[in-house]
Amino acid sequence: MSTRWPEWAKNAGPDRRSVTAMHATHVSGITIRPLRNGDAATVVALFDRLGEGARASRFCGAKPRLTDAELDQLSRVDGNRHVLVAYVGGDARPAGIARLVRDGRSAEIALSVADELRGRGLGTVLLETLAADARAAGITSFVATVCGDNPSMLAILRRLSASLDIRWQRGEREIVVPLGA
Ligand SMILES: CC(C)(COP(=O)(O)OP(=O)(O)OC[C@H]1O[C@@H](n2cnc3c(N)ncnc32)[C@H](O)[C@@H]1OP(=O)(O)O)[C@@H](O)C(=O)NCCC(=O)NCCS
Repeated sequence: MSTRWPEWAKNAGPDRRSVTAMHATHVSGITIRPLRNGDAATVVALFDRLGEGARASRFCGAKPRLTDAELDQLSRVDGNRHVLVAYVGGDARPAGIARLVRDGRSAEIALSVADELRGRGLGTVLLETLAADARAAGITSFVATVCGDNPSMLAILRRLSASLDIRWQRGEREIVVPLGA
């Protein structure tokens, strides 16, 4: 899907490629761009579009509001933290956010889509774009923590790879997704 594979990344050592050097993508009415470091307003605007259930799924527990420390962490972007924001049509409000935190060749991921836009393929596009960026940066697997049933998260992870490695960690599923070539 992504045509943004950077020429320089093909020649660089895999662990020296930055996940921050990515550009905006446009896919059938959806615009995806990297979050600007420290853009807490966008993080809050998406959080405000999540209902109680979605927040509980995303944060594995009740989350009526984000603390300043959480907001600082969620809006931080650097060589190891990469965040994508999706917009739909001409709506200036964020429709979804996907993030990864790199740990060597692996990355912990999390994503959320505004309640009223779920089930329309946005999560799939965000995850595929995040995976393309990750591959370009030399990342070979994603790790997602999935709490509760969360069939839609499982569905989009399975679309990324048929061979998920599912482990239980403190009552939550930790899912390892190989990214392939
Ligand atoms: C998980 C999430 C990001 C998915 O986003 P989305 O935009 O709804 O995802 P998509 O529309 O691309 O795909 C959802 C898939 O789940 C499937 N799905 C939904 N409910 C399902 C169910 N009960 N059983 C099986 N599959 C289900 C849909 O059919 C769809 O697959 P399909 O396209 O093959 O039909 C979104 O639901 C969300 O924000 N959830 C709350 C936060 C969260 O749980 N984040 C994940 C933990 S980090």
